[in-house]
Amino acid sequence: MSRHSQNGPIYEVEGLVIDLYTPTVSVRAVDGAGFYVAPGETLAIVGESGSGKTVMTLGPLGLLPEGVAVDLRGTARADGKDILSMSPTDLSRLRGGFFGVIFQDPMSALNPMLKIGPQLAEQARRFAGLSATEARKEAVSLLARSGIPDPEDRYDRYPHELSGGMLQRAMIALALAARPRVLIADEPTTALDATVQAQILALIRQIQKEDGIAVILITHDIGAVSVLADRVAVLYAGQVAEEGSAIDVLTAPVHPYTRGLLASVPDFRSDNATGTKEIPGIPPNQAQLEPGCRFADRCELVQPQCRTHRPPLVKVGAGSVPHRVACPVVIAAEGIVTHD
Ligand SMILES: Nc1ncnc2c1ncn2[C@@H]1O[C@H](COP(=O)(O)OP(=O)(O)OP(=O)(O)O)[C@@H](O)[C@H]1O
Ligand code: SF4
Ligand SMILES: [Mg+2]
Repeated sequence: MSRHSQNGPIYEVEGLVIDLYTPTVSVRAVDGAGFYVAPGETLAIVGESGSGKTVMTLGPLGLLPEGVAVDLRGTARADGKDILSMSPTDLSRLRGGFFGVIFQDPMSALNPMLKIGPQLAEQARRFAGLSATEARKEAVSLLARSGIPDPEDRYDRYPHELSGGMLQRAMIALALAARPRVLIADEPTTALDATVQAQILALIRQIQKEDGIAVILITHDIGAVSVLADRVAVLYAGQVAEEGSAIDVLTAPVHPYTRGLLASVPDFRSDNATGTKEIPGIPPNQAQLEPGCRFADRCELVQPQCRTHRPPLVKVGAGSVPHRVACPVVIAAEGIVTHD
């Protein structure tokens, strides 16, 4: 099933550390995490609420929580270019053109005061370099392609005149208007009902097939991961616990957190004879992080060394897509062969 590309990564983040400071608290939102995605590939980023999925993916692009002071370190490259040293103007151009972002709330991207079509046309004119006439045509065609019926009519509608599902499609059309090479979808379907969710995911998949773009899907929905993703990165408390091909991570998870996450999903594992169970406990307070494994307080297999040494991500198995796991205890206990 792997559509893993032979090409190198088009967006690549390494050793990322992001500290957020509010007047009352400082939080290490991302703690030495990284990921990559290649053209034509879908990377899913999963993990509990607050694990740092959004900040890790969008932070390097300068899309960070408002009203918070930020310290960001590490490396991030888009098409081989260092993003973190770019001027604000270049970064803003990259954000609008190279990257397309779909948020959970369409109204965070669409202007409520402007008609839908002209917003798309403006995006196509600015970032894809089209003339005003071409941009109008492109906007209508993007609305059609995004599954919006009667696109000529919808072109002249305001956002409040569209349903939730149609607005989500309009936002996808807006993200595509600049002809991005990396599409980032941050919980794109959480607010929608199940039928529309399935339609939106099918749309993202179709666009990816047609355009060969890279997709990063940030989601809680393991079902969506199994349908759409080539690779998966599991984030826990700002660190990558496990990453690898979707098949490896979903069918042969190694990290206790990944195993717990999958066991907590109803109906996901038909071989799960004991039924679903929640992972006990809560994630650590990221304002007061202890050394060692972030998962230690919730882990049934915890050993004394887990509390003192940060577990490194180690390559396991011999698959062509690297499968990496940050849990030396399970690797040793189960005699899993490592490759680093
Ligand atoms: N505006 C903010 N002020 C302070 N801390 C914040 C702010 N936004 C995010 N954080 C902190 O940064 C960390 C990572 O947040 P992030 O939004 O990336 O998580 P997430 O995995 O995307 O969660 P969710 O699934 O709920 O979207 C969390 O610990 C969170 O508390
Ligand atoms: S390193 Fe230790 S605490 Fe962390 S997941 Fe593995 S066994 Fe559990
Ligand atoms: Mg988020």
